[in-house]
Amino acid sequence: MTASPNDTARTVLVLNGPNLNLLGTREPAVYGTATLADVEQLATEAAQRHGLSVQCLQSNHEGVLIDAIHAARGTAAAILINPGAYSHTSVAIRDALSGVELPVAEVHLSNIHRREEFRHHSYVSGVADVVIAGAGPQGYALALDWLAAKLLPPAVQG
Ligand code: DQA
Repeated sequence: MTASPNDTARTVLVLNGPNLNLLGTREPAVYGTATLADVEQLATEAAQRHGLSVQCLQSNHEGVLIDAIHAARGTAAAILINPGAYSHTSVAIRDALSGVELPVAEVHLSNIHRREEFRHHSYVSGVADVVIAGAGPQGYALALDWLAAKLLPPAVQG
């Protein structure tokens, strides 16, 4: 089924990359105890407060994430992405994001700049409109607040 232009204008694709399916049990000292389902729920509720909806996808596979980014053109108005470790390695995800020309919010649960040096550079940041790192799951809600302000005229913001 194809999305109506109105649905598309109010949908944000929320992408989570590799290993984020392990949230809740993965290195809780770094990533906290919220699960991926908790994070997606937080994003859903933040979107709803603004009259937006989210489409959530997590994948451990670079190509699946790239296909989802391509498919967003025509089904979503913006992309929120936590690319996980692909942030630091994937020119292909960066190119996909710049190729579809949608607003991009990059989110990291941890403050990647306070961690190992190899995490300090993100290929995605150069094509992201906003980058939020270190706010934990709340970063997803902050990103949705920002995207809502960008996408919606002030009169219709919830
Ligand atoms: C992460 C940070 C990345 O360096 C790491 O590889 C992840 C998660 C974060 O959310 O803090 O998988 O993107």
